[in-house]
Amino acid sequence: MTDPRTVYLSDYRPYSHLVDQVDLTFRLAPKATRVEARLHLRPNPAAPGRHVLRLDGEGLRLVSVRLDGALLDLTPDATGLTVPADLLPEAPFVLETLVEIDPEANTALEGLYMSKGMYCTQCEAEGFRKITFYPDRPDVMAPFRVRIEADLPVLLSNGNPVAQGAAWAEWHDPWPKPAYLFALVAGDLVAHRDRFTTRSGRAVDLGVWVRPGDQDRCGYAMDSLIRSMKWDEDAYGREYDLDVFNIVAVDDFNMGAMENKGLNIFNSKLVLASPETATDDDYARIEAVIAHEYFHNWTGNRITCRDWFQLCLKEGLTVFRDQQFSGDMRSHAVKRIEDVLMLRGRQFREDQGPLAHPVRPDSFIEINNFYTATVYEKGAEVIGMLKRLVGDDGYARALDLYFDRHDGEAATIEDWLKVFEEATGRDLAQFKRWYTQAGTPRLKVHEAWNPGTEGGTYTLTFTQVNPPTPGQPKKDPRVIPIAVGLLNPNGDEVVPTTVLEMTKGTQSFRFDGLASRPIPSILRGFSAPVVLDHQTDAIERAFLLAHDTDPFNKWEAGRALAKDMLVSMVAKGTGVSKAWTEALAQVALDDSLDPAFRALALRLPGEDDLAQTLHDRGTVPDPEAIRTARRRAGQALAERLAPQLPGLLAALTDDGAFSADAGAAGRRALKGAALGLIARLDGGAVAKAAYAAASTMTETVAALAALLDIGEGAGELAQFQARWAAAPLVMDKWYALQIALAPPEHAAALTERLTARPDFDWKNPNRFRSVIGALAGNHAGFHHASGAGYRVVADWLLKLDPLNPQTAARMSTAFETWRRYDPARQAQARAALDRIADTPGLSRDLSEMAGRMLGA
Ligand code: TRP
Ligand code: ZN
Repeated sequence: MTDPRTVYLSDYRPYSHLVDQVDLTFRLAPKATRVEARLHLRPNPAAPGRHVLRLDGEGLRLVSVRLDGALLDLTPDATGLTVPADLLPEAPFVLETLVEIDPEANTALEGLYMSKGMYCTQCEAEGFRKITFYPDRPDVMAPFRVRIEADLPVLLSNGNPVAQGAAWAEWHDPWPKPAYLFALVAGDLVAHRDRFTTRSGRAVDLGVWVRPGDQDRCGYAMDSLIRSMKWDEDAYGREYDLDVFNIVAVDDFNMGAMENKGLNIFNSKLVLASPETATDDDYARIEAVIAHEYFHNWTGNRITCRDWFQLCLKEGLTVFRDQQFSGDMRSHAVKRIEDVLMLRGRQFREDQGPLAHPVRPDSFIEINNFYTATVYEKGAEVIGMLKRLVGDDGYARALDLYFDRHDGEAATIEDWLKVFEEATGRDLAQFKRWYTQAGTPRLKVHEAWNPGTEGGTYTLTFTQVNPPTPGQPKKDPRVIPIAVGLLNPNGDEVVPTTVLEMTKGTQSFRFDGLASRPIPSILRGFSAPVVLDHQTDAIERAFLLAHDTDPFNKWEAGRALAKDMLVSMVAKGTGVSKAWTEALAQVALDDSLDPAFRALALRLPGEDDLAQTLHDRGTVPDPEAIRTARRRAGQALAERLAPQLPGLLAALTDDGAFSADAGAAGRRALKGAALGLIARLDGGAVAKAAYAAASTMTETVAALAALLDIGEGAGELAQFQARWAAAPLVMDKWYALQIALAPPEHAAALTERLTARPDFDWKNPNRFRSVIGALAGNHAGFHHASGAGYRVVADWLLKLDPLNPQTAARMSTAFETWRRYDPARQAQARAALDRIADTPGLSRDLSEMAGRMLGA
């Protein structure tokens, strides 16, 4: 392993040369693929002076290198190849290299690798250097021509197909792109095809490529793609720009998907769907990720990042766009709640622990470790705040200017903020702190009411606290858009949503002329990614749950009610509150509300979320006590709803044809929630029947989860495994579900038992995540006092690391919350982290993560 070097944003310098054209030829062979690269180079006028030519390259066997046809005698080092300055012309020249690589031995799934006999690539962030010698940095953009030679039926690369023959194909991508967007796929694949005509009349051939046998599960992905293409034209005025657009599904893939120009590569779990094999959540994820990768064509590809510190420029914006799209396709209210659940569950957790970093970091050791919830999800929140502050029109003008000005460029966050400043006349200097300061602000609220003769005055005073994060002890106040509405005690809205702009540490906002003391609805739509500290009583929360006109805050009121109660149950030993069961029952049974919303309202705060909340409120979280309190609350809710649950279940049973749309999915979600509650009352009889009758994977999983949750379901697990043994994506659910719902004292042992199965293919990232990730997600199991959870996860991280450091490092975030817990647990977790950190030959990826989590 190379010794870890820190890279700093402040060290950015333009590259010494420009690349005018790249010609690549691949002669594919599993153990010895030859890559011929012809780079047309010239000195970069933006980097004056004489420079060496430094090309990145790792694990390449150099066969030859020629400059303008003449052989050079050069030896690469561990990270690249240097051509000395005195050999380089000051005019344009051509550098040709020939290298040999071994895709079959590539278990890291970065660069060119093989998955079930198929060749594929993953180059973001720095994988292209494992394919050939090249300036592997996003600000070097060039058009690519690619020739693939292999005796395989399908040979794909970026751009448009130019020519093909027996065992070869040529592709040309006219749009200059950085190397991280390069892609190549070759294998025995079949296509699900369709066609899209852009609004200016360009006909685009669309293909979703999968292994033979999977082609009947591509319909939803294709449909999502077509809707995405249309949406980007309508919402952002962005058209597609090539003759073809291809998507390939790969079984072995480190993340979700990749936006390679004209040739997106996907984890097969985000492409393949049928009602029998995929849940409604899978469908929603497929739609969102297909859109995300497609939207990158403009926000990421046409306009890319100057350097990897600017990653949020493309990721935050593209997540924001895919969230808008999903909201338009489904329900904005439900989508917002789901996005906030995910933000709090992953990003707040990150921001409040040792891995906290700014949306735009200013240093890193391994860039793969910065594809985080902070860069993606908080990056999207920051754009949402910007849009709220400048308004829809201002946002539209700024985006038009952004596309206009930076098309074909590699841009920065400064460029991004400047288009907003120019388009709207607003100074964003203070707003920029959202990009440079890490940590989740806390927002305290103080209310004052002054009844007067001409109507009363109501004053809201906010105080923001920006807690220290690693490397950032002191922070400055941020601009916080706080959307507020005021309700009358009778439930009418007296002040509709207004956005208060907080810019100081403490700031007051006055509302005059009110007839009576209002009830405030604060942070509507979750208008800023902050922890709202608004202490109020259960009566007010229940009132908002019943009356708030803002759907997010209506849900949030129920959530806060549950959290207050659960925290008190754990910290003070109190019981389940009637106010909560009553208020929740009202929502659950209110047929005027969207079933998807009702299902979300019925979902109790998760154990990890409660642990964080307890920690925030000064109590050391006890995982066992949290689990017990949460189960007790679920039981009380089930008992309160007992008389109505059968009717609810019957009313929600669809007998028509399957529909994947949001309405049908929402009904299935509420039905699943009802099933879970019934199981707590009847020992699982209804859930067993539901399992037997299920016609969709959504219903199957809901029934199985309801059974496992009450310690039943052994027979159903066996049936499931017999039925789906040959379907890896479905078996991933089988593994994950039973580990996630295992009793805490058995979770680690069950995991170990399951990892001994022959179909536990731990080199497959999906399978590894389904098993090890499920244990890490079983809160009381992972944090079990025995330390077995920590030990098993650490064992597997260490086993995976030498083969696939990227996935090992990503999964190591299981440990990021270790300092929340009691000294005995901390000691166990620290021992596991020390064992990881002290392992000789650890990857740069995992050693950076372990070091940061230990606070090194
Ligand atoms: N750019 C991809 C996306 O957000 C994600 C990505 C980054 C990725 N690095 C990767 C995917 C490595 C797979 C493997 O859409
Ligand atoms: Zn992305």
